[in-house]
Amino acid sequence: MSTPLPILKEQIENYLSKSLAADVDQATLRDAMNYSLMAGGKRLRPALTLATIEMLGGTLNDDLLRAASALELLHTYSLIHDDLPAMDNDDLRRGKPTNHCKFGAGMATLAGDGLLTLAFQWVADNHLPANVRSQLTLELAKAAGPSGMVAGQARDIEGEHQHLTLNQLRYLHRQKTGELIRYAVLAGGIMMDQSAEIKQELAAFGENYGLAFQIYDDLMDILSTTEAMGKAVHKDADEQKNTYPGLLGVDGAKEQLQLALTAASQNQKNLEKLTGKSFAGYDDFLAYFK
Ligand code: IPE
Ligand code: IPE
Ligand code: MG
Ligand code: MG
Ligand code: MG
Repeated sequence: MSTPLPILKEQIENYLSKSLAADVDQATLRDAMNYSLMAGGKRLRPALTLATIEMLGGTLNDDLLRAASALELLHTYSLIHDDLPAMDNDDLRRGKPTNHCKFGAGMATLAGDGLLTLAFQWVADNHLPANVRSQLTLELAKAAGPSGMVAGQARDIEGEHQHLTLNQLRYLHRQKTGELIRYAVLAGGIMMDQSAEIKQELAAFGENYGLAFQIYDDLMDILSTTEAMGKAVHKDADEQKNTYPGLLGVDGAKEQLQLALTAASQNQKNLEKLTGKSFAGYDDFLAYFK
């Protein structure tokens, strides 16, 4: 049985709100971490992990929920640091003043540090088998760190002064956003102890979905509103960011979005062939782009 996406999000929300406080020992730090974590994100990444587990035949429990929700801690850290004055310098996130606007840049930096570190604690400290916990730890480190998201963020700020080719921009987007989403899907396969072949196809779905996600985010910076996004729009061009619409125009970016989504749909079909199971649950996630 697969749990409907809104219910998965509610389960993640509940897990986060009941669990964070126990692991933070300083009151202001706890408030700062809790402020951004509970500000109402879409919870897309842990939901992808949980949906993947269920499509592979698993039943959700507290340990799976904990290991999956760890990624939301890490993602929230990446947003807090992304918004800092020395990075994208944003005032609004998840419909609220950014962490540094509320708590100051020092405490916001530490709130991010705390969320990043706590993510690894949650991945390690649960009752999943030891080989699952060690694989998750390694894959999360690779996806989030200097060979993944952090490298993408470094390319992003350095790129503000450079013109990137489409290949370079695609690589940047795959790293800064794609890597965590790739991990989200792969993590479901690791928790369900799948074959190398299945894990590779899961990762490929996550990679293509993740690229689509950042192309769409670039498009929404031009086409959407602050109210709908809960963050400032029309900022990428001002900050001289390298984006898909900046390089290819809105129509060109939409074409590239469709290519990434077509590739993701192909991975979805391949997964059905490889496992003999339905991966229709991913349709709810692909509907985000409609
Ligand atoms: C925002 O991620 C940062 C990007 C990678 C584009 P989300 O769009 O998933 O943000 P939340 O978690 O819903 O706030
Ligand atoms: C993705 O890029 C951010 C992270 C990897 C944290 P953006 O800078 O475009 O994300 P938003 O638009 O601020 O959410
Ligand atoms: Mg950024
Ligand atoms: Mg930003
Ligand atoms: Mg953006």
